[in-house]
Amino acid sequence: MTDPDIKKGLAGVVVDTTAISKVNPETNSLLYRGYPVQELAATQSFEAVAYLLWHGELPTPEQLAELERTERAQRGLDPRTVALLETIPVTAHPMDIVRTVVSQLGTFDDTLHRPGGWTDPALDLQRSVTLFAQLPAIVAAVQRRRRGLEPIPPRDDLDYSANFLWMTFGELPSDAAVDVFRISMVLYAEHSFNASTFTARVIASTTSDLYSAVVGAIGALKGPLHGGANEAVMHHFTEIGTADNVGPWLDRAFAEKRKIMGFGHRVYKNGDSRVPTMRAALDVLLDESGRDDLAALVDALEHAFVERKGIYPNLDYPSGPAYHLLGFDTEIFTPLFIAARVTGWTAHVREQAASNALIRPLSAYSGVDERHVGTAARGV
Ligand code: SDX
Repeated sequence: MTDPDIKKGLAGVVVDTTAISKVNPETNSLLYRGYPVQELAATQSFEAVAYLLWHGELPTPEQLAELERTERAQRGLDPRTVALLETIPVTAHPMDIVRTVVSQLGTFDDTLHRPGGWTDPALDLQRSVTLFAQLPAIVAAVQRRRRGLEPIPPRDDLDYSANFLWMTFGELPSDAAVDVFRISMVLYAEHSFNASTFTARVIASTTSDLYSAVVGAIGALKGPLHGGANEAVMHHFTEIGTADNVGPWLDRAFAEKRKIMGFGHRVYKNGDSRVPTMRAALDVLLDESGRDDLAALVDALEHAFVERKGIYPNLDYPSGPAYHLLGFDTEIFTPLFIAARVTGWTAHVREQAASNALIRPLSAYSGVDERHVGTAARGV
């Protein structure tokens, strides 16, 4: 029996304040530190958005240059990470590989051993920049290894987004395609108390370290009800094949009571604020690639699902096919989400630490009533 006061999944429960982002389901809007995410996506580099999330203000040109310098200096893979990657089966899921490597990065950080070093806010900011700088190299190396290719060193003359694509593919797509990638990073960067961010905050609330919080967040992000949906969306498209198969495929999926990935949201009920921006970015790639078949499939599934269920696409719906068109393997889509969301996670870890209360909710016991072993039952 469920207690009527229990909020399963913490649905509708406000557990704390945050100054990092505001999700408003009434207006389908999302603000990072007060700025509409669409404006940031239209005007800012991902580095500037990361700075905004961490510091609360957009950087001055000098502050941005300093962040870029620090980020570029830390882009290269540590030889110990290259060695660790070699020990992991190439068949392992990239989310598991990236989770493992981030955990390893924590072991390189000697400042953790200083008195108070685990939770020092200044050190945590440096660690945030380190993870921000390292994740593109890690994800790119994992993608290349799946194709039997060696890692490519970073290029200091490229910004975050262009360098990420360079390290992955060894060539640069059109400027428009690089921009689509940048937009996706900005849109994925932060989304208040989603499951992975909340996981990070729970871990931070025990005064554990930032790396542990990020490793835990990666575990939460992997699930298809959360970040894993961008990968799962692409599997749907592969299964469906062509636009004219959407109807029969949906009939079967509904009969089997399947969840359709990339649709629905715990907070937004009338559409995800980020989707129009990401859909416009996807359209750039669809036009550029001439993939009318995929464009028709994306449109057909969206229209049919919205018409039949009244449930709208979330950000994972347009980002999945966008990452496919950029050339990433489907299993790399959620690691790309990690690379973006690490900015939001680390901002939340620092916010949690700044006004911490251990997160420890209650549960209502639903097991058998108290009972006793008795002497006869002891078996001694
Ligand atoms: C992200 O929270 C965040 O901010 C997350 C995120 C971020 O930026 O961090 O936005 C990123 O995780 C996006 C969500 C990605 N997940 C998916 O696309 C997976 C598919 N979607 C769902 O399973 C679902 O919509 C959730 C998990 C996203 C939200 O689930 P809720 O709020 O728990 O709602 P629910 O599952 O209880 O659904 C309510 C009803 C149910 O029907 P009834 O039982 O009431 O008849 O809507 C139906 C559900 O069956 N429903 C769906 C559906 N989504 C909701 N039915 C089929 N397919 C779907 N996708």
